[in-house]
Amino acid sequence: MRQAGRYMPEYRRVRRRYSFLELCRTPAAAAEVTVTAVDRLGVDAAILFADILLLLEPLGVGLEYSRNEGPVIHRPVRTPQDVGRLPRIDAAAELPYVYEAVRLSQANLRVPLIGFSGAPFTLASYLVEGGGSRHYLHTKTLMYRAPRAWHELMSFLVDNVISYLRRQIEAGAQAVQVFDSWVGCLSPYDYRQFVLPHMKRLFENLPGQVPTIHFGTGTAGLLEMLREGGGTVIGLDWRVDLIQGWQRVGFDRAIQGNLDPAALLGPRDLLLEQARAVLEKAAGHPGHIFNLGHGILPQTPVDQVRALVDFVHEYSQSSRARG
Ligand code: CP3
Repeated sequence: MRQAGRYMPEYRRVRRRYSFLELCRTPAAAAEVTVTAVDRLGVDAAILFADILLLLEPLGVGLEYSRNEGPVIHRPVRTPQDVGRLPRIDAAAELPYVYEAVRLSQANLRVPLIGFSGAPFTLASYLVEGGGSRHYLHTKTLMYRAPRAWHELMSFLVDNVISYLRRQIEAGAQAVQVFDSWVGCLSPYDYRQFVLPHMKRLFENLPGQVPTIHFGTGTAGLLEMLREGGGTVIGLDWRVDLIQGWQRVGFDRAIQGNLDPAALLGPRDLLLEQARAVLEKAAGHPGHIFNLGHGILPQTPVDQVRALVDFVHEYSQSSRARG
């Protein structure tokens, strides 16, 4: 995730010509950025250049990417009346440029392309808070005080995420990832009550022909329920021991993770030692996808990422040779 970004000079060069939203809305440029990141890093799969919040843009809530604050929603949805006023459109039908970027990227890649969407809870948290948040108090207030409006909002988002991912798959995405980045702010009780039924409906309604990745962070208290929610692959962040996390997810599922992205800021030998520890933990169980536990940090030196990718390839090849 976050393969292309401001840490990468090739990205910054393209980004000078467009605002972030313009870049997302220009399929040729979005595809170029997607493909360049793969070439530069040598990774085994590409992730589409887009953003989880694009799906909210057609709702007319005033999405903006500000230079200092990150994403902002100028007209947040905080009350049952606000939820009732949301246009009941198929927002996914309004994003043809994303599907075109999928098509163009896929045509220019030699590795599989991962499409993605935000998960309903994480999308709702941006809609309700109006941006990033530390404690998610507006979101939880709506959830607790107006559960009917909350479930209505979540159902609406599930419908849209299903439709969005279906279209990405039709356009050529070979796997899809669902980002529930901020779901770790919830208690297990609240997850079961307010999120899990929606995740089940979401995964049950994705086309079965491509693998699905169910990602979250801060999920150490929720792993069994993430499994229950669905996904061919469950993401693990670095706060959980890989084997203990996998055991709770179940060894019959694949996992993805779980190096701390901050490890890329340390000295090279420590970085590779930590990567080796992840790989050694996973050894002997089929179905581990090496990845960071969350997105790459803006301060990351690109050659550290390249060294990490090369190391994982060498390790995997030599362990395959050893049988
Ligand atoms: O090639 C890639 O990997 C990039 C594709 C990608 C972006 N956002 C581009 C982006 C992906 C997979 C995302 C997902 C995303 N977006 C998530 C889920 C993953 C996660 O990290 O948890 C979330 C929560 C968002 C919301 C979002 N978009 C935030 C919080 C920000 C600000 C972050 C920042 O570094 O400024 C964005 C903007 C954003 N999305 C950028 C990029 C490259 C930076 C925008 C810029 O160029 O100015």
